[in-house]
Amino acid sequence: MPKVQAETATGLIETEAPDGKKLVLTIEDAGVDILHRCGGNARCTTCRVEVLEGDPGEMGELERNRLAMEAELAPNTRLSCQIRVHSDLKVHVVNQAS
Ligand code: FES
Repeated sequence: MPKVQAETATGLIETEAPDGKKLVLTIEDAGVDILHRCGGNARCTTCRVEVLEGDPGEMGELERNRLAMEAELAPNTRLSCQIRVHSDLKVHVVNQAS
């Protein structure tokens, strides 16, 4: 199973994900209170992460168009609700409820 590392406000967490699991749910199931206010519909951007290592896969049109509406995002910014985990990843979680 792919390994996922996530930098959070309280430190680095490590978990594994079944191939194809959504990244946002992988992070949440590991105990991180990552925001995802629109329910994974690429509308709110609260679930965004910065990809530090690994290949998150191609960006879809929905995600690309939504991120294009935001100013001053890091170039490695992605919407975790739009990423299916297929290989090892390390990300920084941008927004948490706490
Ligand atoms: Fe809203 Fe990902 S949960 S954009």
